[in-house]
Amino acid sequence: MMYLRLFFVFVILTVLSAYTLFAQTTIPNKMSEETSACISCHADQTHGIYQEWGTSKHYRANVGCFECHQATRDEADAFEHNDFTISIIVSPKDCARCHAREVAEFDESHHAKAGLILGSLDNFLADIVEGDNNFYGGSALTVSGCKQCHGAVVEVNEDGSLKPTGWPNTGIGRFNPDGSIGSCTACHQRHAFSAEQARRPENCGKCHLGPDHPQKEVYEESKHGIAYRAHEDDLNMDGAKWVLGEDYTAAPTCATCHMSAVRTNDGELVPVTHDVGLRISWNNRPPASIRPEVSDAKLGLEKMAKVNWQTRRDNMKQVCNVCHTSNYVDNFYEQYDGVINLYNSKFAKPGIQVMKLLYENNLISSMKFDDDVEWTWWEIWHHEGRRARHGVSMNAPDYTHWHGLYDVAKHWYTKFIPELKEIVELNLHSADSGKQAGAKKVQQWIDELLKRPEHSWYTGNLSPEEKAKRKKAQEEFKKRYGK
Ligand code: HEC
Ligand code: HEC
Ligand code: HEC
Ligand code: HEC
Ligand code: HEC
Ligand code: HEC
Ligand code: HEC
Ligand code: HEC
Repeated sequence: MMYLRLFFVFVILTVLSAYTLFAQTTIPNKMSEETSACISCHADQTHGIYQEWGTSKHYRANVGCFECHQATRDEADAFEHNDFTISIIVSPKDCARCHAREVAEFDESHHAKAGLILGSLDNFLADIVEGDNNFYGGSALTVSGCKQCHGAVVEVNEDGSLKPTGWPNTGIGRFNPDGSIGSCTACHQRHAFSAEQARRPENCGKCHLGPDHPQKEVYEESKHGIAYRAHEDDLNMDGAKWVLGEDYTAAPTCATCHMSAVRTNDGELVPVTHDVGLRISWNNRPPASIRPEVSDAKLGLEKMAKVNWQTRRDNMKQVCNVCHTSNYVDNFYEQYDGVINLYNSKFAKPGIQVMKLLYENNLISSMKFDDDVEWTWWEIWHHEGRRARHGVSMNAPDYTHWHGLYDVAKHWYTKFIPELKEIVELNLHSADSGKQAGAKKVQQWIDELLKRPEHSWYTGNLSPEEKAKRKKAQEEFKKRYGK
């Protein structure tokens, strides 16, 4: 009996030591000494942070406080903290020690350039028109508005603590003290750093919402958003891998279409990408939509400037085609292009032209937003025109129409054109011959615009065929509804 017992103990010990040996060679089986020291205080001092980290994959892989927060003395935000050199900011450069691919992809995207808003019209609004210079020499509004989405410059005090001008801040194009750009916490909230949380649409919705880019609202009212709500629990969102076509098929989230992995109909595995520009074929942010490779070249995204819009569209179609047929998807893209071309040619391009005439001929001052017509034009393209374009790109008819081209048309005909006419009247007999000539040019622009078939209704000049067609349809409608 005695020998048998000893034999069992021997077997158990052998198995145990083999197990620990194996475990040690794959993932470190214990926390570093440094991290253990951090925890000895922080388990109490910042209990929430400790607990959240405890739920993370990092904890399970023995990636601890020190592995992320460690710093070298030459870093601008490094400080001595209980015998350790650390920093508060954990920048993409820090994450890149273990996640080089994700960081490289992120760096090639518009997200990494989102902090470059200084000098934009929106920036003039927040700094000057809406703001003042009383918060550390700048506008408090810019710090708590724009920069919370776009990213601030993180400024460091002598002792390594951070100034309120740039911290707290998780803006996506943040300028970090170590010279790197971006913030991974913009999407991966600390200290769980979970992929699941980032796959959810609310994640993107912190920034992608509101009057000028309502992607979250657009998604929620689309068939895709409806399917997501209905099937949220069947999507395996907490899976270690999350491949469309393998792990789920019931609904796409923002991440599905723009970032996540796809098993295509040909059996190819398209991996996750952290470059959100790889699957979009229009840039719908400027007054008139342009192709993404054009805007990427201007931003200095060299790699992306070489990826043409057709390739990016094909990338997206691989996603759609898991759930739809190619005819369905191709037709959708024709419908989408149709609305973009309509908006561009009927409103955006002529609008850009006439605003240029106003500035070039000094018919309005070069100062932005001091003339009514500047606000009118701004809202037409920056709010209403974008809403229409974002609505159609992601299947939200209400945004395409009622919050979109309806508002564009209403303000075009009832505000923009009347304001232009007023400017012409004011300047047509001006003593300044330059202004007089300018007013004539604008009058000519108005006349030519209103002669175009798509605008001719405004002056009562619909073609006889169109008039007859409309009249017949109206009479039939009246018969049905009695009004
Ligand atoms: C002796 C206890 C102790 C040790 C050891 C310790 N900390 Fe702290 N740490 C603190 C306390 C206390 C604070 C301040 C908490 C507060 O202000 O609410 C703090 C603050 C911090 C901050 C925030 C600083 C700021 O100004 O916002 C970071 C980041 C941090 N610790 C990381 C670490 C890391 C990483 C380690 C291990 C390398 C570590 N700490 C080790 C006690 C400790
Ligand atoms: C995977 C990397 C990672 C790990 C592991 C990690 N942190 Fe952090 N921590 C971050 C990031 C990222 C931020 C936000 C800073 C930023 O935006 O750059 C942060 C912020 C903080 C802050 C300041 C924020 C606040 O809310 O006051 C403290 C304090 C902190 N961490 C402590 C800890 C402690 C303690 C641990 C271990 C229990 C830990 N961290 C583990 C990445 C990490
Ligand atoms: C010291 C190495 C190291 C550092 C530094 C590090 N990570 Fe990780 N990270 C890992 C490991 C290891 C895993 C776990 C991989 C696994 O379990 O599949 C992981 C997993 C992840 C995941 C996937 C979690 C999930 O739910 O699947 C995310 C997201 C992530 N890290 C983000 C970050 C971010 C953001 C930073 C910087 C703030 C960072 N990591 C810093 C090593 C690191
Ligand atoms: C709620 C978050 C949020 C706030 C606040 C915000 N933005 Fe944005 N901004 C975005 C998003 C998201 C986009 C991209 C929209 C898209 O892709 O359609 C964007 C786009 C832009 C663009 C166009 C960039 C391009 O590629 O053409 C500029 C310029 C800009 N914002 C400046 C500002 C300024 C200046 C402010 C403050 C007055 C501001 N934004 C406030 C989220 C925000
Ligand atoms: C725009 C939001 C967004 C930003 C910013 C972001 N991520 Fe992610 N990340 C995601 C999403 C969504 C996933 C999940 C993809 C999937 O599995 O479908 C993910 C997954 C990951 C993973 C798991 C492995 C993988 O590729 O699936 C790692 C690691 C990771 N991110 C690291 C980072 C790092 C490091 C940064 C900072 C450069 C970063 N992420 C910035 C959205 C983001
Ligand atoms: C913290 C704010 C923030 C979050 C969170 C965020 N974005 Fe963005 N996103 C922006 C801003 C700002 C821009 C415009 C940047 C520019 O062009 O200057 C942008 C641009 C984009 C673009 C246009 C890319 C291009 O090449 O033109 C796409 C697509 C996009 N985001 C998708 C997403 C998705 C999907 C998520 C969630 C997984 C997400 N974003 C999360 C702020 C954010
Ligand atoms: C069914 C797939 C799908 C889903 C789900 C989806 N998108 Fe899109 N998204 C698209 C398509 C298609 C376009 C237009 C691409 C093009 O121009 O070719 C687009 C365009 C965009 C753009 C570019 C806007 C611009 O100004 O140029 C942003 C930003 C964006 N989506 C963000 C989001 C966010 C945030 C969500 C979730 C709330 C989301 N998308 C959900 C397919 C999707
Ligand atoms: C995960 C599966 C999935 C993916 C991926 C997907 N869709 Fe869908 N799509 C659906 C479902 C489900 C519906 C609702 C079908 C119905 O009406 O019963 C839908 C509906 C639509 C509709 C009809 C909208 C309406 O209001 O009737 C269009 C158009 C569409 N999708 C286009 C696309 C495009 C374009 C892409 C790629 C950018 C795409 N879908 C990606 C599942 C998907």
